[in-house]
Amino acid sequence: MTHLIPMSPLGFRCALGAAFCGYALLGGLSLTAQAPQRQSVTEGVYSGGQAARGQQLYKAQCASCHGNAMEGTVGSPLAGDSFLSNWSARSLANLVDKIQKTMPFNLPGSLSREQSTDLAAYILQYGKFPAGQAELSEGVLAQIVFPTAKVSAKPAASLAGTSLPPPEGNLAELMRAIAFPNANIIFNVQLRDPGNQKKKQPAAAPFDYFEWGSTVYPGWLAIDQAALAITETAPLLLTPGRLCQNGRPVPVDRADWKQYVKDLGEVGKLAHVASKTRNYDAFVEVSEKLNDACANCHKVYRDKGGTEGSGATRCQP
Ligand code: HEC
Ligand code: HEC
Repeated sequence: MTHLIPMSPLGFRCALGAAFCGYALLGGLSLTAQAPQRQSVTEGVYSGGQAARGQQLYKAQCASCHGNAMEGTVGSPLAGDSFLSNWSARSLANLVDKIQKTMPFNLPGSLSREQSTDLAAYILQYGKFPAGQAELSEGVLAQIVFPTAKVSAKPAASLAGTSLPPPEGNLAELMRAIAFPNANIIFNVQLRDPGNQKKKQPAAAPFDYFEWGSTVYPGWLAIDQAALAITETAPLLLTPGRLCQNGRPVPVDRADWKQYVKDLGEVGKLAHVASKTRNYDAFVEVSEKLNDACANCHKVYRDKGGTEGSGATRCQP
């Protein structure tokens, strides 16, 4: 009765709940029915020659943003712990899709499937996953997965030891001080291309700091700055102890609030990269995403409470 032994993990998982139990059973069934082989990227799934082709492409088209050592500069790191935790248990088909559909960031859709696969092979090689005999090919991509990352006990980035000053303004004031003016600079790109602006001359007299300042960092530089401001200040929406205008605490502990803040920071980063590429059309698309990032949170936490002012139900879900 040896089959009792392989059965037992299934029995254990079923104890965790009906839904999961059904999933486990289905997984078990398909395994016996057609045995799609799950493989790990650790098992020599690409060839050295293929990685060398990927390396050429990487140097020419990726290193400028992801760094010579894949350490991440403008783009994210493509090796190391944070990369591996992003890709934990995900398949190479996902990685090749990500590359082919969205990279290079400033020219998505320009790589063939084969080139994208060669790039994935080089990323594996650089990450010290061993090469094998056969090339990585389309048919197997979906079955090959990255290792499941261990969840580390210490938080990824910690401010332990630093103490943040308590908030100075309420949430509406903070929005008006930072999100509003900087988002407007970004939304304005939809109306005029920062690359085509005539050089402004400050009026000779009377002197005006604001007018003069707007001539110092003209065009795309101003857009870079606005995107950076949104990105770097998004975490201020999580400062503990801040109140909304109506006296309710900002719901900094709610999961959806944290997600909206995270989305805002991520769109800010995208806007920063897109601005640096000076690609007008790409930037306009990102500016629309920024509008969504503001609106998605406002729909839930601001606008249900009424228009501008201190709606009583603001800042509650
Ligand atoms: C103009 C800058 C730029 C270039 C060039 C570029 N990338 Fe990226 N890349 C980014 C940015 C920004 C991100 C993060 C945003 C995203 O995931 O879309 C990113 C994300 C990625 C990711 C996802 C990383 C993760 O952990 O989720 C992969 C994989 C990737 N790039 C591969 C490539 C490859 C391969 C090339 C070359 C063909 C390339 N990139 C060229 C900017 C760039
Ligand atoms: C995580 C949620 C969230 C995000 C993201 C967010 N806001 Fe807000 N915003 C709020 C809430 C809640 C209020 C109401 C604050 C109060 O009443 O104290 C508010 C208020 C404002 C106000 C003040 C107007 C008023 O009716 O009181 C402006 C302006 C504003 N937001 C602009 C923006 C812009 C522009 C963005 C995107 C760049 C943005 N916000 C992103 C939640 C958010």
